[in-house]
Amino acid sequence: MSQRWYMRIAMCIALIFIISFLTVIRFEQRKIKSFLNPVKELAEKMHFPDESKFSQLVNQLKEHKKAPVLQLVNNITKWSSDRLPKMNRTYQSIKNVLKNQIGEALVGKNKMSGQSLISNQLYGSFNSELVNYDVHIFYYPWYLSEGYDGRWKHWNHNRLPYWKKGEIDKYSTSSHTPVDDIAADFYPELGPYSSNDPSVIKQHMKWIKQSGAGVAVVTWYPPTMSDDFGDPIDPIFPKLLDAANEEDLKIAFHIEPYKGRKVVTLRENLKYIVDKYGDHPALFKTERHGKLVPVYYIYDSYLIPFKEWSRLLSKNGELSIRGTELDGFFLGLLIELKHRFEIKKAGFDGYYTYFAAEGFTYGSSWKSWRDLSSFARQNSLAFVPSVGPGYIDSQVRPWNGVNTRGRKNGKYYKAAWKTAINSLPKWISVTSFNEWHEGSQIEPAVEKAARGRTYMSYSPKNSTFYLDLTREFVSDFYESKTKL
Ligand SMILES: *[C@@H]1O[C@H](CO)[C@@H](O)[C@H](O)[C@H]1NC(C)=O
Ligand SMILES: *[C@@H]1O[C@H](CO)[C@@H](O)[C@H](O)[C@H]1NC(C)=O
Ligand SMILES: *[C@@H]1O[C@H](CO)[C@@H](O)[C@H](O)[C@H]1NC(C)=O
Repeated sequence: MSQRWYMRIAMCIALIFIISFLTVIRFEQRKIKSFLNPVKELAEKMHFPDESKFSQLVNQLKEHKKAPVLQLVNNITKWSSDRLPKMNRTYQSIKNVLKNQIGEALVGKNKMSGQSLISNQLYGSFNSELVNYDVHIFYYPWYLSEGYDGRWKHWNHNRLPYWKKGEIDKYSTSSHTPVDDIAADFYPELGPYSSNDPSVIKQHMKWIKQSGAGVAVVTWYPPTMSDDFGDPIDPIFPKLLDAANEEDLKIAFHIEPYKGRKVVTLRENLKYIVDKYGDHPALFKTERHGKLVPVYYIYDSYLIPFKEWSRLLSKNGELSIRGTELDGFFLGLLIELKHRFEIKKAGFDGYYTYFAAEGFTYGSSWKSWRDLSSFARQNSLAFVPSVGPGYIDSQVRPWNGVNTRGRKNGKYYKAAWKTAINSLPKWISVTSFNEWHEGSQIEPAVEKAARGRTYMSYSPKNSTFYLDLTREFVSDFYESKTKL
């Protein structure tokens, strides 16, 4: 071959190289554009202190071509800390948004490490001041106490009747009589408290912060409704949101299967929540198609057929909330294998597994998590496994011993966390902060024996053992995401 041919081939190769390079740059720029607007929107809402500096930042991001991303983030961080006091909430919130937005847009949604890589740049390592917004913990504000509210709710829960024919009479259905006899196998350090009590709420938020979890997922019924045993819960939300905000925590809604729950009523619920709480700084939001939207966990979502769900959650559904002010990031409950497909077809954004008892359902079987996670990744869904320290509900379901899971001084919890982290999930949820009836709580518990009852405890460990242990795992999860 002549030298000219070599030249031509070389030029062709160079041309191909240049074209691909330009394509990559354009792609990057488009990604950057898609997150600038929400950042700007939020920054304006938060009264960003210096508009010109912000525009400069925006321009810098626009010009930014290949990848001195980390350097850029360092610059932003340096600039923010120069300008604002360290723990200033405005600064904190903007950092969070930058973390989410830049992380997802620049490092790529499918690489697990995006958000954490950036947050590591912003915060340094996971120190004791921090919480991890990728870890969510289920919270129940349904307890009332005679001392605070004038009557008991939930601590006096009765034993639920057995549903199995012929065995119904074998088990007691009597209720419990606090303070010595409560509807739980463990006894709370705060005693049988009231979820309405501001000092209890404050202590709970401090403990959640101590655990490192950044988001409390709070059980929710529409305003005048409640579960079968409690009072309406919605009136507590303003207090919870304010208290969470004090500790830099976020709140997400756990929508319960209230009587008459249908997609039409759910749409009304979303409107209510957005109107009433949508602007609260403690409402947990995440990025969806370039916009920040609230996150909703939908308990027992399978009770509504997926065709119904898709009227609400798919883009072209007749009741669709997509792209409207009611849009959100919706997580369905995965119980059986087939729910993967149903949740996908329904238009959900992902799934969680809730149950702390390993093997109770397909979803709560640790060995399914790897598959559930890769199915989620392949289908652009979020996988959010739920981990718990153990399970025992003998004081409300005396016939359910088959589902008891011993804590083994934290070994059970550790195995759950390890499996969850190894499955590379988007987030991890913890069941629970205070579901005392089911003995899945990590809230501090104490030793107690009274009136013929001897409670279980965390002994030989101390009362905050499961909070402290959670913090270790939360940190492990955080570190795992910073590794490329
Ligand atoms: C970060 O700041 C340094 C020093 O001011 C500057 O040289 C560099 O270009 C900046 N990097 C980016 C990506 O903006
Ligand atoms: C945070 O700093 C900004 C700008 O200095 C200020 O306007 C705002 O009030 C501060 N917020 C708090 C909670 O201190
Ligand atoms: C509980 O024990 C841990 C580990 O031994 C310790 O670090 C922590 O300070 C203890 N907490 C309390 C409240 O005693």
